[in-house]
Amino acid sequence: MNISIIGTGYVGLITGAGLAEKGHQVTCVDISKEKVKLINERTPPIYEKGLKELLVKVVPSKLKATTNFKAAVLNSDATFICVGTPSRKRGSINLDQIKKASQEIGIALKRKKGKHYIIVKSTVVPGTMQETVIPQIEKHSGKKYPNGFGAVSCPEFLREGSALEDFRNPDRIVIGSNDNDSIKAAEEIFKKFEAPIIRTSFKEAEMIKYASNAFLATKLSFINEIGNICKKMSINTNKVAEAVGLDHRIGRKFFKSGIGFGGSCFPKDVQALIYKATEHGYHPRLLRSVLDVNRDQPIKLLELLDENDKFNNDKIAILGLTFKAGTDDIRESPSLSIIKELLLDDKELIIFDPVAVNKVKKLFPHLKYASSAQEAVDSADVALILTEWPEFKDVDYKEKLVIDGKNIFDGKRPKNYQGVCW
Ligand code: UGA
Repeated sequence: MNISIIGTGYVGLITGAGLAEKGHQVTCVDISKEKVKLINERTPPIYEKGLKELLVKVVPSKLKATTNFKAAVLNSDATFICVGTPSRKRGSINLDQIKKASQEIGIALKRKKGKHYIIVKSTVVPGTMQETVIPQIEKHSGKKYPNGFGAVSCPEFLREGSALEDFRNPDRIVIGSNDNDSIKAAEEIFKKFEAPIIRTSFKEAEMIKYASNAFLATKLSFINEIGNICKKMSINTNKVAEAVGLDHRIGRKFFKSGIGFGGSCFPKDVQALIYKATEHGYHPRLLRSVLDVNRDQPIKLLELLDENDKFNNDKIAILGLTFKAGTDDIRESPSLSIIKELLLDDKELIIFDPVAVNKVKKLFPHLKYASSAQEAVDSADVALILTEWPEFKDVDYKEKLVIDGKNIFDGKRPKNYQGVCW
């Protein structure tokens, strides 16, 4: 099929490259000329395992990028909306980019003959397809859903760092629509994937995404809370998590305690769900607590630093800037909130991250950056491990205090070691 993809962020570019790999003809659209140029030069604008190799394989024969929105839509059978849905200040979702993309699709469809399919992959609160996407396309195209164009809600569940692998091997594919042609078109697009297909309404599909992320975030705040209690009582949290996780109803995955979850998804999506529920007159206490526990997790690490005051702690090595390993994404990274707190305390920081230093230099240009983890540790009194990059296990920490926020050591730990909640 000929497919256009609006937005070349994580979801858009991975979807584009992944569908091109399956044989579809893909055009990725972005307003950024720079991103478009990079993609056409087979250089991923984001750091993601395997993406470079895949772009080399599919660009230009199966995938090209452009800033020409209209032409991309007109020359395709289906358009994926993969634009950003950031949070507003109070936590509600900002649908401006979704609205704009829908308007532009509508304008392009005015001139198109035959049925075109719109597939929303961006994370959007329940009701968005019916209240925003379809009405905007109808308004600007002069056509009516479902005869004039089709629509499918198809949430994406990929994780940054293993995005391609997740795209290639999904646990499920959700196809939300009440139009048979649209369902058939989506099934055709995903026919080469071996995953159960769940057919749902628009709103169910939209909610499945939020419920999945909210559950995973809850699981993390749960194990972090158990960890905080264990730490106070000198109980080994990791042993507890291991044995509890062996109950197949609970599971061991996503059960590692630490300085809390970050990234562009969990904090924003849980917030947006709370906001939406509140708009509907329901006040989600559990989800609020999930965010409360998470907000306090980085503070636990700072408290440990204060408690271990027998060690000199004026010069601090910061190991890791991203919200998790395998990505250069620093959005909502607990590491950044820890850095800000330490700067307020007048600490001298020596920072290292294998991939994200340039991004953080833009925010904190005056700080000291080391060229390796070892160099950072050698020039500091204390080391804080804030991202689970495997190389941090091989550093010689000597006698220095090491506070691990990411639970990275399975075996031998540094001599003066503290886990944030284990
Ligand atoms: C998350 C979901 O896992 C994806 O399924 C979803 O598609 C994506 O959000 C999204 O909505 O787009 P992602 O934000 O890339 O993916 O990151 P995760 O791997 O889920 O990690 C989230 C946070 O939880 C990280 O800060 C990570 O360090 C932390 N985490 C994860 C733990 O603290 N412990 C764990 O055991 C697992």
